[in-house]
Amino acid sequence: MKKWLGLVFILMGLSAIAQNKIIPAPLSVKPAPGYFTFDPTTYFLGNDQVAYKDGYVIKDFLIKYYNLPLKTATKSIGVGKHIALKYDSTLAVADGGYHILISPENITITGKNNGGVLYGLLSIMQLIEKTGNTVQIPCGEITDYPQFQYRGMHLDCSRHFFDIAFIKKYIDYLAMYKMNTFHWHLTDDQGWRIEIKQYPKLTEIGAWRDGTMVGHYRDQQYDNVRYGGFYTQKEIKEIVRYATDRHITIIPEIEMPGHCMAALAAYPELGCVKDTTYQVAKGWGVFEDVFCPNDSTFIFLENVLDEVMALFPSPYIHVGGDEVEKIRWKNCSHCQQLIKEKGLVNEHGLQSYFIQRIEKYVNSKGRSIIGWDEILEGGLAQNATIMSWRGEEGAVLAAQQKHYAIMTPGSHCYFDYYQGAPQLEPLAIGGFVPLDKVYGFNPIPASLTPEQATYILGAQANIWTEYINFPEQVEYMLLPRMLALSEVLWTSKENKNYDDFLSRLLFHFQLLDKTNTNYAKSIYQINYKVTPASELNKLNITLLSNPQLGKIDVQTINVLNGSKNNFTYENPFTVSAETPYISAQLNGSIKNTPTTQIKLKFNKATGKSITLKNEPSKKYSADGGFTLINGVEATVNPSWNGSEWLGFLGTDLQAIIDLGEIDSIHSVTIGCLYDKLSWIYPAESVQIWVSTNGKNYEQAGKIKYNGDQKRNAITISSTVKTGRYIKIEAINLGTIPSGNPGAGSKPWLFIDEISVE
Ligand code: ACM
Ligand code: ZN
Repeated sequence: MKKWLGLVFILMGLSAIAQNKIIPAPLSVKPAPGYFTFDPTTYFLGNDQVAYKDGYVIKDFLIKYYNLPLKTATKSIGVGKHIALKYDSTLAVADGGYHILISPENITITGKNNGGVLYGLLSIMQLIEKTGNTVQIPCGEITDYPQFQYRGMHLDCSRHFFDIAFIKKYIDYLAMYKMNTFHWHLTDDQGWRIEIKQYPKLTEIGAWRDGTMVGHYRDQQYDNVRYGGFYTQKEIKEIVRYATDRHITIIPEIEMPGHCMAALAAYPELGCVKDTTYQVAKGWGVFEDVFCPNDSTFIFLENVLDEVMALFPSPYIHVGGDEVEKIRWKNCSHCQQLIKEKGLVNEHGLQSYFIQRIEKYVNSKGRSIIGWDEILEGGLAQNATIMSWRGEEGAVLAAQQKHYAIMTPGSHCYFDYYQGAPQLEPLAIGGFVPLDKVYGFNPIPASLTPEQATYILGAQANIWTEYINFPEQVEYMLLPRMLALSEVLWTSKENKNYDDFLSRLLFHFQLLDKTNTNYAKSIYQINYKVTPASELNKLNITLLSNPQLGKIDVQTINVLNGSKNNFTYENPFTVSAETPYISAQLNGSIKNTPTTQIKLKFNKATGKSITLKNEPSKKYSADGGFTLINGVEATVNPSWNGSEWLGFLGTDLQAIIDLGEIDSIHSVTIGCLYDKLSWIYPAESVQIWVSTNGKNYEQAGKIKYNGDQKRNAITISSTVKTGRYIKIEAINLGTIPSGNPGAGSKPWLFIDEISVE
């Protein structure tokens, strides 16, 4: 009897801790029977100052998340149960690792170094079970350490400014999920955000702009509201202390030699063009004005860096180096003289010279530089670390040259990109980095040897804030994607599993709800795929969502009689011209999950067969030719992967649609995108031919394009009134006209729905 009960307890214990909810998932969890139950006398007992402080940090979290107040002490107090916290550098785990032993009597957390105790505390915090007034943790043993030593998050505070109350909240989110680096982007074209005592105009002038771009860059609209803000040195010291207590290193970024309009507005003598009025930028993008590499500029930058290094103890100082236009240097007599004098190849050599000179200075102060991957161009600085953002090539090149690299490729780490369908998301710059994509990221580029791979320090996600005006929006872009990144960086490959992560994530959503965090619910969006149906004039709809999140409620509306059909989604279903409206939503316990609305436009070409003579570019190939007749009209945002656009770079669209039977044909309409800033131009002309047998075609109409709408429907009236096959040619403009971005290059031709009436 007793034995049997014991077994039940063991199984209960197993199920409790085996279904742990910890993010990032720990290395090893061994369950044991029983529970540690908190009582009013439970306290943290730290064996040294750092462990004591770790207990102090977690106290805040326990109050916020569990309304559980605990005391902290450096020596035993009274008879209360305690949670012993200690650092022991001999612990056999990697840096930042920890070991936890939970028994009914007490909990012991031993950290090796670098936040190990805090990380152990965070793990047990996530194991807390609260029922009524009982707060407990299942017994067991955890051994854990991170896979990567650099676990970073970036925040751009130049494009939009966030006050120190929010910066602390941001640091809390990082700490909660065992991230250890905050890359603070403090200067850029749109605002200088750090007080520098020797150069007061940097913040008097450089921290303020006379307006801000509104809407998307492609709309080129501005408000004229004065905007700005900056951090005083006193505030920065407070933030550095706050981060240090949470085992987070802050790497400040002072951008050079580009992205410096705000500094030039304050001190115009730092630029190449002397008789000009520089302004703090109101809009986004890359600007031609950059620092002129003359002696007074270097003195200025060294003085600025002195103050920066005095504020930030970080071993690394980030000096930017990305997106440096060379045109001013080309036209500057000083710059050209310097290129000759130093025997540099060209302006790229000058960029190298600039960064290397700054690096020597930073090194002389006992620190190292980090730069964006452009600093590889024209020769790498001595011992610089590369942040690889334009893909992984930068990191590969760096590691091959035995330089350290941090992975932050746009494909997986740009959290300013969309995480769901653009039509269901707040406006963002573009791109598509959904949660599962982040989760699937492998920071080690496949082409590296094991020895080269040791130069990859870890990864970081970036939050650029052109389209992120408020703290709530930062939270939305950060969460839950940072939780996926934290598991990428902390958890061993063997313990990573996306479905398991999702099930743990649902618990973390509840935690975040307790602090009114505006995390994104984009994973609850239902995606869909339209495919050809076996019956003519019909389409098949497949709804896509993770089954763990719940069943999908579907409604279709019959537009002829207004009747509605409600059902639970099981399998792909067929719709027709009578039922073109479909809405789908998860039937789960989560409130306010987004509804996906599908509005199909049926016409004579919809769902028919189509062949393309020219393949579109791989990047914008969607579902090939079928995309053009699937009943779904593209939106004007072409950058999302799920986009409906087919993109042709410098080439034409040539398509043949087979209607399946001879039918009347009055007109053909073809959708073209016009987005000059993205080098996308509508067809220069469109022509159609009609045939009854697919062999002999008769010309049926041609028009030259002369509109200027964002999305153009170019309609050609057919002079041939019946036929079965329609040949369509949309001619690429060929060359981008002068005076426009990309002038002289090949333009994109973006085509979507073709309809035949
Ligand atoms: C960057 O996104 N310009 C580093
Ligand atoms: Zn110059």
